[in-house]
Amino acid sequence: MEPISDCLCRYKDYVFEIGITTADYIDSLQNFEIRDSDIFLVTYPKSGTVWTQQILASICDSDCQDTRLGSNNMEKIPWIEYCAMMYCPDHALRPSPRLFTSHLTPALIPPGLKNSKAKIVYIMRNPKDNVVSYYHFCHVWEKLETPKSFDEFLQQYLAGDVEGASWFDHVREWITLRDQYNILFLTYEEMKMDLKSAIQKISNFLEKDLDETAIAKVVEKATFKNMKKDPRANYEFLSDDLLNKQNGGFLRKGTIGDWKNTFTVAQSEMFDRIYQERMGHLSLKFTWEMNGQPK
Ligand code: PPS
Repeated sequence: MEPISDCLCRYKDYVFEIGITTADYIDSLQNFEIRDSDIFLVTYPKSGTVWTQQILASICDSDCQDTRLGSNNMEKIPWIEYCAMMYCPDHALRPSPRLFTSHLTPALIPPGLKNSKAKIVYIMRNPKDNVVSYYHFCHVWEKLETPKSFDEFLQQYLAGDVEGASWFDHVREWITLRDQYNILFLTYEEMKMDLKSAIQKISNFLEKDLDETAIAKVVEKATFKNMKKDPRANYEFLSDDLLNKQNGGFLRKGTIGDWKNTFTVAQSEMFDRIYQERMGHLSLKFTWEMNGQPK
């Protein structure tokens, strides 16, 4: 792993926090045994990961055999790529159905997921809100450098010099390779605009036959307001050496279009040009502002 700053290192075109995993462990994922019943939540960081963890945990609570059911969402749906610093069980010993979280790209995720029945839920978020959320997160996550300014962080983000590497590559690679996987794509914005429909889509994809009452319960548990005070979902269970709770947390604003409070007009125009160059050929429809139409 090659350090690119005091906090980050690059490995096989991906960027990890220093100390959160090892090259050997990441390489070992190439031989990771996938079960047909596995469910993966895959995201680029700050796209709605902990939100979707709460939805998956609530949907699966009824039939999940995991003996840790009473535990928090990180333990119910652990990140597959972290073998240090964060919770890392022996996945081979976990009962089915296993749920995983991952920020990995197709090149690093277990190849056994290809052409298997295992399911992937991929959540993406419009990148202007994504980078703003990420910028604020750097002020609360103690293992990341605090950016000197938003402009400095924006440059790092555009260069892919942030944990998770490039948003553009991440989304493009998963979209381009979608036919190789059993994958459901959803956007943060569609979840925000119609949470019930998004939850129905996820539960149909997982082949869970939830009735109206059960769906309503999942919706209730997954609202921003309720998640913020849910100790199993809000990540405040993390220790102070990881999360600086004085500066905020994983649930910050939870809105669409907050980028408008941070981007200058010049930054926004530059971003639009780069987005067009790198993503224009994919017919993605993001909603960039509340009440806005997808474009
Ligand atoms: S991480 O670190 O990658 O796991 O972060 P991630 O969970 O992907 O992203 C955090 C952002 O998701 C927002 N969030 C929510 N929005 C709406 N509703 C609910 N229930 C919800 N839960 C989390 C969270 O507030 C972060 O976005 P910002 O824009 O910073 O508020």
